[in-house]
Amino acid sequence: MARMPRWFNVLGPCGMRAAARGLALAGCMSLLQGCQSLPAETYTPKLGQIGKDVMWLPTRDELVHKLLAAAQVNPQDLVVDLGAGDGKIAIAAALQFGASAWGIEYNKDMAALAQRNAQRAGIADRVRIVQGDIFKEDFSQATVVTLYLLEELNAQLRPTLLAMRPGTRVLSNTFSMGDWEPDQVIQVKGGIGYFWTVPASVKGVWTVMGLDHRGPAQLTLHQHYQRLGGTLTWGSKIQPVLGARIEGTHLHFSFINADGLLQAVQAQVHGAVFSGEVVGPYGMVDVQPEIRKVSGQLNR
Ligand SMILES: C[S@@+](CC[C@H](N)C(=O)[O-])C[C@H]1O[C@@H](n2cnc3c(N)ncnc32)[C@H](O)[C@@H]1O
Repeated sequence: MARMPRWFNVLGPCGMRAAARGLALAGCMSLLQGCQSLPAETYTPKLGQIGKDVMWLPTRDELVHKLLAAAQVNPQDLVVDLGAGDGKIAIAAALQFGASAWGIEYNKDMAALAQRNAQRAGIADRVRIVQGDIFKEDFSQATVVTLYLLEELNAQLRPTLLAMRPGTRVLSNTFSMGDWEPDQVIQVKGGIGYFWTVPASVKGVWTVMGLDHRGPAQLTLHQHYQRLGGTLTWGSKIQPVLGARIEGTHLHFSFINADGLLQAVQAQVHGAVFSGEVVGPYGMVDVQPEIRKVSGQLNR
């Protein structure tokens, strides 16, 4: 089972026992919620108030929704908002998309407010806000990470994000990730956001079986984040791979087969191996493209 960060313990014995038994926490926490009728809120944060590394400004509702929708957040996801503010992104992820969510917020008053906001929204069973530093807390279990920080903070976090499980989605309000090109740019009136998917590392030399009747090929891949380039070699014959890219763990590229026809490879990468299919050629009247199994092994 994946390791829980220390602040998961804020669920207390009730939550931990339920989790240990593999039970949904909903029943347990809704009992707790039922006991907690919160008094009217007395803490009002100020727009622009100083945070540890960046001030507080909330992401606009429309952008929150569009960012989470772009990443296709769903009930299987664990969304972590780095610098959670009043908790609105974590709360939206749970309320609107059914996800579980954590928020990490340095300011203890804000963190407490965000947790109360989650309770008031009735989803405290799926939203945990912890008071902590985004540069110290372990959020490696997240499947979606959201940020509204600064360009230089994104640059500091980028190695950590790129080391997360391939396929992890990253969303940022306003600030980019340097030369890591976004998969999608999300625009709303007066705002912009970015969406990336953490790519598997595929650079290197692969031995590929099943491409065509010429036998095993050598596939050399160069990688710049999700963008790939490279060559395919059969003996002394070398050709460029076409349209190569990696989307999380999905590897795609095309090549010209021994008969001079375009074929496409779609494969899943698992560490140093991939497996998938070769499809095509297309556009031949009354001929269904043949589908063949293909596999690859990274040469160490
Ligand atoms: C621009 S606000 C974004 C709030 C929220 N994520 C949103 O989009 O609505 C940034 C938040 O990060 C918090 N923050 C700043 N430095 C932090 C750090 N090192 N660790 C945790 N939170 C931090 C600030 O207190 C502030 O609430």
